Amino acid sequence: MTIDTGKAKTVTEAINTRVTARAFLDKPVSVDMLEKIFETARRAPSGGNLQPWNVHVLTGEPLNNFRNEVVGKLMKGETEGDTFPPYPSPLWEPLRSWRYKLGEDMYKLLEIPKEDKPARLRQVGKNFLFFGAPVGILITGDKRLEVPQFYDIGIYLQTIMLLAREQGLHTAPQGAWRAFPDTIKKHLGHPDEQQILVGMSLGYADADAPVNDLVADRAELSELVKFYT
Ligand SMILES: Cc1cc2nc3c(=O)[nH]c(=O)nc-3n(C[C@H](O)[C@H](O)[C@H](O)COP(=O)(O)O)c2cc1C
Repeated sequence: MTIDTGKAKTVTEAINTRVTARAFLDKPVSVDMLEKIFETARRAPSGGNLQPWNVHVLTGEPLNNFRNEVVGKLMKGETEGDTFPPYPSPLWEPLRSWRYKLGEDMYKLLEIPKEDKPARLRQVGKNFLFFGAPVGILITGDKRLEVPQFYDIGIYLQTIMLLAREQGLHTAPQGAWRAFPDTIKKHLGHPDEQQILVGMSLGYADADAPVNDLVADRAELSELVKFYT
C-alpha cells in the first residue's frame, strides 16, 4: 500500500491514514500549520488536567545543529544511556513476536537481509536524523511523574499525530530519542528536574520511499477486545 498524503477529513480517516513515516520530503511545514496543530493539541486530556508535557518544536538551524551533533556522536560510537528501557525485558509472547514481525516486515520492504547488520543499523540511525523531517519534536517531562502521566503523554502524541493528518502531514513517534538525554539537555536547556520522554518527526511523507509502504500488522479485534453483552 502507498502512504496516503492527502488531508484527512474525518477522525476515522485520520486514524486510518496515520502510519509511522520513516522518510520525509525536504519541504518546510509552515509556521501557521505548526501553530494550528499545537494550539489545538492543548485540548488533549490528562488525568487531573496535569498537562505533564513540555514540548520542544525544532525547525531550521536549531534542528540541524541538534541532529548533526547526535549523528556525529553516533558515528563515533558515543552513547549516553537511555532514560528508560524501550520495552520490558525479556518481552513475552505474543508481544515478542509482534515486535519481531514489525522489524522483519520493514527490512523486507527495504530489501535488507538479516545478515546485513550494518545496513540495518544505518536504517535505525535514521531515527536520529528525524528521518529527514523538517520538524523535530522533543517532549520532556518532570522526573517525578508517575505511570498515569505517561498515559497522558501518549494521548498528547496521538492528538498531534491526528491533527497532522488533517493538514496532509505525517509523523513518526520516536522513543529512540531517549538514547541521547545529554545532548538533548544541551540543546534544549530544559530544567534539571525534567528528562526526555519521547520524540517525534513531523513533515510531508516521501510517498516514493519504500519504507513508507510499511503497514504494521495489528492483532485481530477478538485477540485484545472482549465485548460483554
Ligand atoms: C511511543 C512510541 C514510540 C515509538 N518509537 C519509535 C522509534 O523510536 N522508531 C521508530 O522507527 N518507530 C517508533 N515507533 C513507531 C512504532 O513502531 C509504530 O507505531 C508501530 O509499529 C505501529 O505502526 P504504525 O505507527 O505505522 O501504525 C514508536 C511508536 C510509539 C507509539
